[in-house]
Amino acid sequence: VSAELAAAVSNAGRLGSVATAARSADDLRLRLERVQELTVRPYAVNHVINQLDPAAFAMSLEFKPAVVSFAIGHPPAELIEAAHAAGAFVMQQVHTVARRAAEAGGNSGRVPTLPLVPQVAAAVDPLPVVAAGGIADGRGLAAALMLGAHGVNIGTRFIASVEAAAHEDWKQAIVAAQSEDTVRFETWELAFSAPGGDYPTLPRTIPTTFIAEWEKLGSDGAEAGEVLRAELIVVASDGRMHELVPMAGESVGLIGDILPAAVIIDQFLEEAERAPPRGPHVGLSGA
Ligand SMILES: Cc1cc2nc3c(=O)[nH]c(=O)nc-3n(C[C@H](O)[C@H](O)[C@H](O)COP(=O)(O)O)c2cc1C
Repeated sequence: VSAELAAAVSNAGRLGSVATAARSADDLRLRLERVQELTVRPYAVNHVINQLDPAAFAMSLEFKPAVVSFAIGHPPAELIEAAHAAGAFVMQQVHTVARRAAEAGGNSGRVPTLPLVPQVAAAVDPLPVVAAGGIADGRGLAAALMLGAHGVNIGTRFIASVEAAAHEDWKQAIVAAQSEDTVRFETWELAFSAPGGDYPTLPRTIPTTFIAEWEKLGSDGAEAGEVLRAELIVVASDGRMHELVPMAGESVGLIGDILPAAVIIDQFLEEAERAPPRGPHVGLSGA
């Protein structure tokens, strides 16, 4: 996520989030300085546990983010304590009850949002729950609230925003794709094993020839995994991951344009307010 997108979301009264994955402490510092130039509103800093850089983590706390979120793994207690000591709320991606919903772009689990959110909400009540996966408009927001979530986390819809740093080709691919086009890249698991082996998330992505070829070779084991890993690390560090693995969720079918983040948020709120509270009336007509 670009500093511009995170700040635009925060300036629109929501919680923009700065990703730290695959970023050096120096690069992250520049990005956080830029966010602070662009907004005085609260924002989050997100850390992916299996790629956590302790120096970058410590440095990010100097910026006093309102929220520190952790994904793909359990943070050790000292990281949670450090975030609290810096005055941040801590947000944890859930995977003890179930995993990140299956529809999500980026690393996704196996259980879809509809059955996942009520189970997580019941399990952690009264803690607030943020639903992630497949939500790209206000109807999805309203539905998530009805399932017991207190808010939503949006990925794919914001990649197709003006402020996102994503390459224009990637944004256009999201606009063009249909929901059934996206795939989970299974061979990824050979290259990037899950932390502790207990959390097998896989990237959901728009398919490419690269992915199709690797899925054919996939069962070749550790050696193939090393080759794939090396190749992906090179493209990731060049900022070209989208050429091989243009990650996006099943909500692509709902996305037909590239808009400023503030406009996307306004549309979400308008649509959610218009979404009819149908629940109690369904099936009662004629009774
Ligand atoms: C390209 C891409 C990169 C992502 N990177 C991260 C990340 O670094 N940390 C994280 O917690 N979630 C990451 N996510 C997941 C999103 O934060 C969000 O939970 C997910 O995209 C929600 O599903 P949706 O795409 O259907 O909206 C990423 C998602 C995408 C599509």
